[in-house]
Amino acid sequence: MENRWRTARGQAARHDPLAGFAFRWAAGATPVSIEDYRRRARRVLPDMVWAFVESAAEDRVTVEANREAFRRWSLRTAVLTGQLAPQLEATVAGVPLALPIVLAPTGSTALVHWTGELGAAQAAERIGARATLSTFATYSIEQVAAGTGESHFFQVVPWADTAPDAQELVLGLVRRAARSGYAALVVTVDVPVLGNREWERRRGIGVPPVLTPGRVADVLLHPRWLRGCLQHRDIALRTVVERGRPAGTGARDGGANLLQPGASWESIARLREAWNGPLLVKGVLSADDAEHAVALGANGIVVSNHGGRQLDGAVAALDALPAIAERVRGRADVLLDGGVRRGTDIVKALAMGAKAVCIGRPYLWGLGAFGQPGVERVFEILGTCGGWRSRSERTGRSTSSTRTSSRRRARSARSRRSRRG
Ligand code: FNR
Repeated sequence: MENRWRTARGQAARHDPLAGFAFRWAAGATPVSIEDYRRRARRVLPDMVWAFVESAAEDRVTVEANREAFRRWSLRTAVLTGQLAPQLEATVAGVPLALPIVLAPTGSTALVHWTGELGAAQAAERIGARATLSTFATYSIEQVAAGTGESHFFQVVPWADTAPDAQELVLGLVRRAARSGYAALVVTVDVPVLGNREWERRRGIGVPPVLTPGRVADVLLHPRWLRGCLQHRDIALRTVVERGRPAGTGARDGGANLLQPGASWESIARLREAWNGPLLVKGVLSADDAEHAVALGANGIVVSNHGGRQLDGAVAALDALPAIAERVRGRADVLLDGGVRRGTDIVKALAMGAKAVCIGRPYLWGLGAFGQPGVERVFEILGTCGGWRSRSERTGRSTSSTRTSSRRRARSARSRRSRRG
């Protein structure tokens, strides 16, 4: 017995004690879920910016309802289908996407990370998806077009018949988007006035932001964010400011003049005339409104309550989806926007009639945490569903080796413009 023990110990001593125990070092834990990115972004961003991203209207009933709706629905699977990989490709507004995900329009994105809307759009196209540039963006229509290789979407707001200035401004933006080769126009119809976001107001988010000694100290405690901000040096709403029209455009007051309580379907009809490409109406929650939009020539409906940032108590986007998909029945693309945090949420939305989903906060968390690569990871996580990995993740297509060179981007922007005439 003793001999045998000695022999075994001798053999063990001849071997590397760590053999078979492979490991590698990392600087820290890697985020693996959207929630991980949310937590990481929380640490990186100053309180005021965090309030801007996270805030929702009043008691946060609708923002929570968006999530709750996904939890309420369950999936019934069909097994042994022989399928090796999920078919994740989709076509939205005539644009083929590798994943059924579009980045929702978000204003002032350079507040979250200095690369802002441009960085997010570049990340989206590396994955084979698209971004929607907000009217209230911190990079202009032209900057994003010049810095990307593909055609993205552009978002505007409707105007009241009594506001000819606003109409002139929006139609001017639409002409610029057409000249720059944007693929689709998204009209957001659920912001007649800005939602009552008490959290933002409590933290001094507004135009101008209200600074206190405590808020300044908090900003100084977030040096990484501050360094990026100083590097970018410009967080103006460049889309509405640039063409020398700071007054009357709402640029000085955060674009609030552009939000029109009296807007009607008339502006959708007018925009339909002004824009030759696909037009999507975002912020629809009823089948009747979807019908109206389609009757006026809309090619897409984005079922959305603005991520719970506008009317608190509005129905959850997912709950509104089936009736709208049923009514529209293939006459327009139906997209689901609000509360998507998992690949399985996307599966549920597609099963309930959506062609694709839009994401807002998840990509802002990725951007805030790690800049552009963070947005790519958010796409990859959402393209992963119960162990399935998206094609981009399997093939590593989003890695830097396939990054579009600026020369190629400029070339393809030129050809995009010439295609659109
Ligand atoms: C938004 N959203 C938005 N929508 C829009 O049409 N124009 C805009 O300028 C903005 N700005 C904006 C800023 C920020 C910080 C957020 C979080 C959201 C709403 C956005 O497009 C989308 O409807 C929601 O974000 C979707 O909900 P989730 O994905 O954030 O849950």
